[in-house]
Amino acid sequence: MEELIKKIEDYRKGIDSFKVNDSDTAESFRIKYLGTKGLMKSVMAEMKNVPAEHKKSFGQIVNELKLFTENKYEELKKVTGYQLPVTGHEFDLTLPGDKLPLGSRHPISLVRNKIVSIFQRLGFAVAEGPEIEDDWHNFTALNIPEDHPARDMQDTFYVSHPTDGPNWMLRTHTSSVQVREMEKGKLPIRIICPGRVYRNETISARAHCFFHQVEGLYIAENVSFADLKQTLYFFVQEMFGDKVKIRFRPSYFPFTEPSAEMDISCLICGGKGCSVCKHTGWVEILGCGMAHPKILENCGIDSNKYSGFAFGMGIERITMLKYQIKDLRLFSENDLRFLKQFTGAV
Ligand code: DAH
Repeated sequence: MEELIKKIEDYRKGIDSFKVNDSDTAESFRIKYLGTKGLMKSVMAEMKNVPAEHKKSFGQIVNELKLFTENKYEELKKVTGYQLPVTGHEFDLTLPGDKLPLGSRHPISLVRNKIVSIFQRLGFAVAEGPEIEDDWHNFTALNIPEDHPARDMQDTFYVSHPTDGPNWMLRTHTSSVQVREMEKGKLPIRIICPGRVYRNETISARAHCFFHQVEGLYIAENVSFADLKQTLYFFVQEMFGDKVKIRFRPSYFPFTEPSAEMDISCLICGGKGCSVCKHTGWVEILGCGMAHPKILENCGIDSNKYSGFAFGMGIERITMLKYQIKDLRLFSENDLRFLKQFTGAV
């Protein structure tokens, strides 16, 4: 018994003089003295060898040592800033988790999807084409030959090519996709072509060097201007509501004859006149017309048998009207404060 008490006294001295420098030492202290295979366990195991009459006083001594060791450990933890290694039990499972930030669609995508779905309901299919185009598809086939003044309507970014120089460009409009579809020779054609287009314009609140268009094309037998009007009227009602009025003004495009531009009554002032509609009560939203017989022939379609209509609109313009956005540059600046406002479908 005396021997045991002496041993415990030595342990206490060892524990007392234990020095720490970092958290590893605090942990090694715990393992050495308080761990499942530590010294305290082996001291307690001695109990079975202690004669019955000494059990009580031995128990007290051991308990004291245990308390002393635990206090020392707490002290060491404080000195070293030691934290228990994280196990599942240290988590409060009832706390709500960190929220993952949800992304949202770009307003241009929202409006493009809406436009596509409106025309899909009328039986239009989506067609796409390349953004790097050749002269034939972007200009010549569309009745815009070289030196034609209509080429000046669109400032073009040409793409350098080792042998085929000025023949390649970034498409200036999605009308190039019309040509590609007509060349396939499968009639009737009822397509819309959403996509990005490029023009060499100075960037401002109203113009950008790239933007998005949706082109529409319907070629079949006996297509009339009335079909065009009704199709666009349906589109406007679905997009902007049935209170909005439309009007057509004669215009000029090389690939349509006759050609028109379509206006809608101003959404901001309801037609009374404001700065958005420049006090006219109307805002232009698209160009359109009956497919020129020459472009049908250019693409191998018999213009005596088939006729059709086409239209083209800028997605940015529709989006700006829809959401009353005043600066085109917001669409490409990726400012999250702007983008976060567009959460649901249009
Ligand atoms: N391609 C024309 C542009 O970018 C828009 C356009 C006008 C397309 C009339 C058409 C159309 O299909 O018929 O300015």
